[in-house]
Amino acid sequence: MSLKLEHVTYTYNPGTAYETHALKDVSLEIPQGQFVGVIGHTGSGKSTLIQHFNGLMRPTSGTVFYDEEDIWQEGYSLRRLRSHVGLVFQYPEHQLFEADVLSDVCFGPKNQGLSQEEALERARTALMQVGLKEKYYASSPFELSGGQKRRVAIAGVLAMEPDVLILDEPTAGLDPKGRDEILDQIAYLHQERKISVVLVSHSMEDIARYVERIIVMNQGEKLFDGVPKEVFSHYKELEAIGLAAPQITYIMHALKEKGLEADISAITVEEARNSILKALGRGEK
Ligand SMILES: Nc1ncnc2c1ncn2[C@@H]1O[C@H](COP(=O)(O)OP(=O)(O)OP(=O)(O)O)[C@@H](O)[C@H]1O
Ligand SMILES: [Mg+2]
Repeated sequence: MSLKLEHVTYTYNPGTAYETHALKDVSLEIPQGQFVGVIGHTGSGKSTLIQHFNGLMRPTSGTVFYDEEDIWQEGYSLRRLRSHVGLVFQYPEHQLFEADVLSDVCFGPKNQGLSQEEALERARTALMQVGLKEKYYASSPFELSGGQKRRVAIAGVLAMEPDVLILDEPTAGLDPKGRDEILDQIAYLHQERKISVVLVSHSMEDIARYVERIIVMNQGEKLFDGVPKEVFSHYKELEAIGLAAPQITYIMHALKEKGLEADISAITVEEARNSILKALGRGEK
């Protein structure tokens, strides 16, 4: 079940004074089961890009394929597509609308044709996965904190058991512990159920820790697309477009300049630790 974009462009307000070319000739393919990160400066087109993955936005030109089928061909069911490709918006409050949390999370599975009972079971499992306490199930989603809303929004998509999970800045508004809990759970689902995950994030640390491939967007274009080590090796170019490598990369470069045989390609704290211990002659511990 791969997702593929071929020469996709998207223009907001074409032909007006507000015309914005948000995507310019973007081609990419995401094979089933991949964990992909999307990074880019604000306004680079990340949200516009990912809304093409489940047919929420229609390309101005170019083609989107899911499982080799053009999703904009006549007769194609976008509804079915959206039950396979779940998207959690950048602003979760846009996605919550039922009177209580449990009903909100049931909405997706019920829409997929599941019975009330099955939907409830899916909803409970999903809410457990995102770590929302049971005492909130009957609350109005609007009374929740930003972080809790985010968990409910993610649960609403997980409850549909999608093959592809797209998350637009899922950890914004969460404290570090909440952030790790949610991302660890998503990484677990990725491993156990082989779902594809597309993670849009401003956190290079999160990206370095979880993803196996990074797509860098810049002014509507795909600038880099590769494994994290390779992409972060371009850290000077990333800085030029307002991004950075993970902090640990800078530390490793600084250590190397000071004469330690540090591995400058280390992008996680774990890798850095091992490399430093090795350089100090203490081996891996
Ligand atoms: N509804 C809209 N109408 C007009 N222009 C828009 C609209 N949404 C986004 N844009 C413009 O399209 C470009 C890409 O925006 P997009 O939201 O996709 O970027 P982004 O990378 O997700 O940014 P951020 O990191 O701030 O979320 C920007 O220039 C933005 O101003
Ligand atoms: Mg965005």
